[in-house]
Amino acid sequence: MKISVILAHPDPSSFNHAIADRAIFALEDNGHDVCFHDLYKENFDPVLPAEEIPRDALLSSEIALHCKQAAEADGFIIIHPNWWGTPPAILTGWVDRIMRPGVAYEFLENDKGEGVPNGLLNAGKALVFNTSNTESEREQKVFLDPLETIWKNCIFDLCGVHTFHRRMFNIIVTSTHEQRTMWLKEVEETVAAFF
Ligand SMILES: Cc1cc2nc3c(=O)[nH]c(=O)nc-3n(C[C@H](O)[C@H](O)[C@H](O)COP(=O)(O)O)c2cc1C
Repeated sequence: MKISVILAHPDPSSFNHAIADRAIFALEDNGHDVCFHDLYKENFDPVLPAEEIPRDALLSSEIALHCKQAAEADGFIIIHPNWWGTPPAILTGWVDRIMRPGVAYEFLENDKGEGVPNGLLNAGKALVFNTSNTESEREQKVFLDPLETIWKNCIFDLCGVHTFHRRMFNIIVTSTHEQRTMWLKEVEETVAAFF
């Protein structure tokens, strides 16, 4: 399977990078074809310009390539920390520019954009790995776990990717080496079981 792996964390020594490394190892070990983007390393421009909004917009070669890869992917793995209950802006901008009409979703005939979109992505599955410094109970009760809604409902379900799993690793700031080692083993096992 072609699996698209998208990482958004600025620090190469972060636990998020360790998650990405382990996920890619597990995918390759299971014979998958990996398409990896480290958005900060690539200096991805997250700002959607006005002229790129129309469905038939002329896209730069970089954006067109990202769109082609997203359309062709059989699955996605998204990796990022919880920043204010949202993905880092560089990843939100990647969604703005790549999960675009005609690639990730479309509106049905005679629908000007007010209706329920039709998902277009070919990928059957999406896996999201997050990290945070908030207890799970507080994340759910006080903040209503916005990352679950964003990735599961607002993005993947809308774009036609209905098999979804998300794992939040917390609390990173007080975690021990042993804990992180176990979490990385869990990443490897989850990826191998999911794809
Ligand atoms: C700009 C910014 C915003 C953050 N917002 C949150 C937050 O809303 N909730 C939370 O639990 N942690 C928050 N954090 C902490 C990060 O989630 C945490 O540092 C990260 O998950 C640790 O993973 P790493 O070791 O890969 O850096 C924030 C960190 C930064 C830099």
